[in-house]
Amino acid sequence: MSHAPHLKIISDNDAPLAAMPAISLKGFSAYYGENCIISDITLDIPRRGVTCLIGPSGAGKSTLLRSLNRINEHNAQASVSGKADVLGRDLASGYPDVTDLRRKVGMVFQTPCVFPRSISENVLFGLRGQKRPKSEKREIVERCLKAAALWDEVSRRLSDSALSLSLGQQQRLCIARALAMSPEILLLDEPTASIDPVSARAIENLVMDLSPQMTIIMVTHNIAQTKRISDHVVFLCDGKIVEAGAKTDIFSRRSLDKTRTYLTEEFCDC
Ligand SMILES: Nc1ncnc2c1ncn2[C@@H]1O[C@H](COP(=O)(O)OP(=O)(O)O)[C@@H](O)[C@H]1O
Ligand SMILES: [Mg+2]
Repeated sequence: MSHAPHLKIISDNDAPLAAMPAISLKGFSAYYGENCIISDITLDIPRRGVTCLIGPSGAGKSTLLRSLNRINEHNAQASVSGKADVLGRDLASGYPDVTDLRRKVGMVFQTPCVFPRSISENVLFGLRGQKRPKSEKREIVERCLKAAALWDEVSRRLSDSALSLSLGQQQRLCIARALAMSPEILLLDEPTASIDPVSARAIENLVMDLSPQMTIIMVTHNIAQTKRISDHVVFLCDGKIVEAGAKTDIFSRRSLDKTRTYLTEEFCDC
């Protein structure tokens, strides 16, 4: 098996913690049955900041994110090979209890997926079963809804059903629910693709606000959005990394022809 060249994203932030990548992949592949969807990729994603994962439909972006918090384990057809370290621990053997991994690596999907329960209960969903005083729960709800830029819109109706919210609000509620677990890494799979532009901007702003404290990997098809919010960019096509690097490099003349074509024409011929 040939190995892709080692592509290392260089972080502008040279604080000691940032020196250790949040995620480190070496010769990593993901399959559905016999089909290799992610093919032998080698990539470091730095701690903190926003890494936008871009590429055409079918490139394997969602499969990569789903592999990283082991959601695909529920799919008997799905498998992975190669090396993947998450926060310095092996993705499989370092997290014998998958809930430990999911506590550290939160995920939000393209279509908001709220539960038919109250707004508060949705925020606290991941903490259910944990005994905490009511006052602490209220505090968590407020903190997470504020961090998800939703508090001002829902603070007077926390007991209302989450289903009464607009799609854009539901997506921010999903982010609040992920934040309640205090994740170190947040995986966002096209979180603004199915919502209105105003909510999309609110999510962009909250992603930028959160990024100094956590590692955010966000799939997006929106090149203008990538330019606005990313610190780093990974361009994936046909299961392989075409190019990865700091935003300033990717959006410059120094980037590869293929990358520049995708950024300007949203077209890739690999
Ligand atoms: N559950 C699945 N079972 C089989 N094949 C899948 C499954 N999910 C995605 N695929 C295939 O994997 C490839 C990559 O899909 P995906 O990761 O969703 O790409 P992207 O998110 O970049 O659009 C596609 O060819 C898709 O058909
Ligand atoms: Mg996808």
